[in-house]
Amino acid sequence: MSGSQLYDTIGAAYTVTRRTEPRIAARIWAALGDARTVLNVGAGTGSYEPPGRDVTAVEPSGLMRGQRPAGAAPCVAAVAESLPFEDQSFDAAMAVATIHHWPDPIAGLREMRRVARRVVVFTHDTSDTGWLRRFWLTRDYLPEAADLLVGRPSVTELARVIGARTEPVLIPWDCADGFFEAYWRRPEAYLHDHVRRGISVWARAGTGAEQRAVHSLRNDLASGRWAERNRDIVNLDAAELGLRLLIA
Ligand SMILES: C[S@@+](CC[C@H](N)C(=O)[O-])C[C@H]1O[C@@H](n2cnc3c(N)ncnc32)[C@H](O)[C@@H]1O
Repeated sequence: MSGSQLYDTIGAAYTVTRRTEPRIAARIWAALGDARTVLNVGAGTGSYEPPGRDVTAVEPSGLMRGQRPAGAAPCVAAVAESLPFEDQSFDAAMAVATIHHWPDPIAGLREMRRVARRVVVFTHDTSDTGWLRRFWLTRDYLPEAADLLVGRPSVTELARVIGARTEPVLIPWDCADGFFEAYWRRPEAYLHDHVRRGISVWARAGTGAEQRAVHSLRNDLASGRWAERNRDIVNLDAAELGLRLLIA
């Protein structure tokens, strides 16, 4: 199933938990520099579209396009790998939490590079061998997340394609946007269906893995095992879990 088909299936509840995290938005908007015209690729419901700039969105899923708020930037039905725009027609192109869904992320990044003078991508780095153990959720409950990455290019390769530099983005403990790693210090959140429904990893891992992971996490929270294993993070205000900005 392609990334857009996936979102036509699972996207209905997206806005229940997925929204702008202002501290991450500030980083993305700063990286856009003085760009006046901005293309937002894989735009979804438009959470990170910068105010005060001339934004055009690209989003292949009709279900996601249909949830864009009234007054949101105009949105074109297209995929990253084939952007229907002339060369260099935008000051900047951005892509937030989406390239891991693209069937061909390298082609998509080349397209962003073609249509814009500046490229800003927010994604995660799974290139070091320790990434699976970096986050307790994948390490102790959902190791199946690793299977989703088989055959995907590393962030280093992706950055090289567009000549990008890479900056780490820490996740605040009270992150407002409910993506996969967002609740690293609020483990009870993952017990809630509505939280998991806003995170594609759960759907892609499959019902069996999801039920086992939730059951096991619930038991560990009740027994104190989670708290014991994760003593080192409960007093942190922000965590480095591999999120990256690529800026070219
Ligand atoms: C997790 S959502 C992120 C949406 C938005 N950028 C945000 O930060 O809230 C991923 C989005 O990527 C879109 N997508 C999937 N495949 C795509 C492709 N090949 N080209 C562009 N967007 C794609 C999905 O339809 C979905 O809306």
